[in-house]
Amino acid sequence: MNKKNKGKMNRTLEVQEKEISSLENSFLHPGKKGDIKNKIGLGSYVDFLDDIKDNSVDLLFLDPPYNLSKNFNGFEFKKSSVEEYTEYLDEILENINPKLSNNSTIYICGDWKTSISIFNSASKIFHVRNRITWEREKGRGAKSNWKNCSEDIWFCTKSNDYTFNVDEVKQRRNVIAPYRNQDGTTRDWSETKEGNFRDSFPSNLWKDITIPFWSMPENTIHPTQKSEKLVAKLILASTNKNDFVFDPFLGSGTTNVVAKKLNRNFFGTEINKEYCLYAQKRLELAESAKDIQGYHDGVFWDRNTLSAQKKNN
Ligand SMILES: C[S@@+](CC[C@H](N)C(=O)[O-])C[C@H]1O[C@@H](n2cnc3c(N)ncnc32)[C@H](O)[C@@H]1O
Repeated sequence: MNKKNKGKMNRTLEVQEKEISSLENSFLHPGKKGDIKNKIGLGSYVDFLDDIKDNSVDLLFLDPPYNLSKNFNGFEFKKSSVEEYTEYLDEILENINPKLSNNSTIYICGDWKTSISIFNSASKIFHVRNRITWEREKGRGAKSNWKNCSEDIWFCTKSNDYTFNVDEVKQRRNVIAPYRNQDGTTRDWSETKEGNFRDSFPSNLWKDITIPFWSMPENTIHPTQKSEKLVAKLILASTNKNDFVFDPFLGSGTTNVVAKKLNRNFFGTEINKEYCLYAQKRLELAESAKDIQGYHDGVFWDRNTLSAQKKNN
């Protein structure tokens, strides 16, 4: 289950053969149903819809396969037309809509190609409020095109009455031009031993996300894992403690893990057993390791700012 020839500095999470039976004991699956609270369901999300109470989900985080031919550890997703992908999303949203509370928020992930389908599909039943674009700095450039290095997260709500805790998601940034008042006091920024910082309200352009890679303990073998920092922003902004977060396409378990670290309730489903094992192991590690890389002292730090670096090491 693990990468061969893993280097010494490589902190990618491993699942050992001897851990498998205890980890899989914790999953629900179509042959073993039970209380979904704070669990992982191994199987298609469709298999668990009847187990989720109507009007109970406060936050839906939807990160389905994008419209690319991709092999998720044996599960083959085939690229289709824009119309077919829109129909695929329509079906997911129709299936899950009855489970959403009237005050719920829905975040839907995609790239530039699927964004058109996401907007078309979501706007049929939800209030589409914004599109977050985040910098996904990975991979080589293309020779005959602009390199793809951004992804989108569409922000939708079920009604006009929804949670948005803007003070919970402030961003701590280095101050480039530290302006002082005439009496020498700082204006809107703080002077610290580690540098000059300003806490600002978050915009819909995120340049502070690092996608998990080998030196990060949250990294797994999942090919399209989202970072804990990214999911933490969404959960903090759009839920309160003890709210219920549902992720039907759980992958390596990021949403469950972050919900747990932030004291929210959660349920996630994933069709691939190996990914469920990683998700369960991450959940168990989160019993004691509650930190989220890039989020400290109640604020999100810019990439590579000194304080955040120190605390991560
Ligand atoms: C884009 S990935 C999600 C990555 C995840 N956000 C993370 O941080 O690891 C999509 C996942 O959906 C899973 N999947 C595809 N169809 C599914 C279905 N019908 N029910 C549950 N999971 C499914 C795939 O196996 C894949 O792991």
